[in-house]
Amino acid sequence: MSIRTCTGTSGAATAGRVSRRGFIGAVVAAGALGGRRSTGAVVPSAAQATSGAGASNTPALLGGTPVRRTPFPSWPVADGREEDALVRVIRSGRWNRGNNVSSFESAYAALTGAKYCLATANGTSALITSLAALGVGPGDEVIVPPYTFVATINSVLLMRALPVFADTDIDTFQIDARKVERSITGRTKLILPVHLGGSAVDLDTIFEVGRRRGITIVEDACQAHLAEWRGRKVGTYGKTGCFSFQASKNLNSGEGGALLTDDEALVETCYRFHNNSRGRGNNGDDFSYRNIGANLRLTEFQAALLTTQMTRLEAQARTRDANAAHLTERLRQIPGIAPARMYEGCTRNAYHLYMFRYDPSHFAGLPRTAFIEALAAEGIPAQGGYSPLNKQPFLDDAFSAPGFRTIYSNTRMDAWREQNECPQNDRLCTEAVWLVQTMLLGPRQDMEDIAEAIRKLQATAPQLVKATAAR
Ligand SMILES: Cc1ncc(COP(=O)(O)O)c(C=O)c1O
Repeated sequence: MSIRTCTGTSGAATAGRVSRRGFIGAVVAAGALGGRRSTGAVVPSAAQATSGAGASNTPALLGGTPVRRTPFPSWPVADGREEDALVRVIRSGRWNRGNNVSSFESAYAALTGAKYCLATANGTSALITSLAALGVGPGDEVIVPPYTFVATINSVLLMRALPVFADTDIDTFQIDARKVERSITGRTKLILPVHLGGSAVDLDTIFEVGRRRGITIVEDACQAHLAEWRGRKVGTYGKTGCFSFQASKNLNSGEGGALLTDDEALVETCYRFHNNSRGRGNNGDDFSYRNIGANLRLTEFQAALLTTQMTRLEAQARTRDANAAHLTERLRQIPGIAPARMYEGCTRNAYHLYMFRYDPSHFAGLPRTAFIEALAAEGIPAQGGYSPLNKQPFLDDAFSAPGFRTIYSNTRMDAWREQNECPQNDRLCTEAVWLVQTMLLGPRQDMEDIAEAIRKLQATAPQLVKATAAR
């Protein structure tokens, strides 16, 4: 699975997307599968279709009737309003950062309750801009979760700083705030928690530690638009809070990002950094610079799209919330399925992802990958989510490159490797199952279908296990 898909799919969430060629091939070889249309949809064999026998208690992957054939809602959602907004930008003749970007910044700040918002090219840029403006650099350590999209730690590595992984709270899928403090050393510059899947990390505990130890906190809220901690929007607690508007996100302009802050001086430093070190109103012929910077600006097209998409955000969030609550109520009744728990302080979950843990022992030992394949055949596309970031081979490659070796001694890297164990996260990466946010945007019946498909797989798991064994 590509890393991008792991952040949520960027296209329509349609049934049967997950590749099941390997499983089906083996099952066909074992003579268990009915037939398949050229679209890839699994259909019953002629005998099953005429007799109707076994349709509901045969998994669709083995020729039974799928629980659903209707696709889940597609994404993005757009109509003439987005078209008009884009046409207006084209006709204005101003395509680079201008009034549309400034208006979007004011609107997003107002929506979240932040004093300042700076729009950026994407969420990664918002993180990089924040870290650069806060002076994170070579030799520094930044505490991060191992269960996140790779951009969180790439932003740290690009500053030539060391990501230090604090283990995951397996019940919530979030960084375990109780384990953050033990990762602090004399070189810790920043704590960078991620509101994973749109839920909130335990901000009370993280801020208590940060205040007591004098360490700045930046929130990666790239997946958490409109999420709240104790009634206040996430992304407004940290020194900055970073958001992504990449195509899969709940607020979407294809690519795009923003950072929030209440610090006037900091937003100006961020502005300069994202504008190749040039200040506001200085896009003309003044070629004097203060610091290192980059061009990480949002365009007028993206801002116009975002301003329009924002008019849909609250209603979509309410639909996701209501559907997610219903789905949780249903899934809690299924042994072996454990929906991600929310901390008591999380007063609103953005549900960028609906996440649960899967325990094969309640499914006759059916492995998670086979469960996901069988679920897709029932018309419910799902994903297995992230692999452990702290164990990515590219980290070792990066650390053995000359740039890092001149900064970090062998002794320091050995110490880093020793503390870099996240057993709870390792376990979570084998148990997690994700449904993307678009699946929560349809009618209540969609949630019933998801629960029914899982119940069906539980009832028919022995058949699937047998077919898997025949591979
Ligand atoms: C947790 C997290 N952090 C950072 C990013 C980076 O955002 P972008 O893809 O807009 O650069 C993403 C988005 O994919 C994300 O999910």
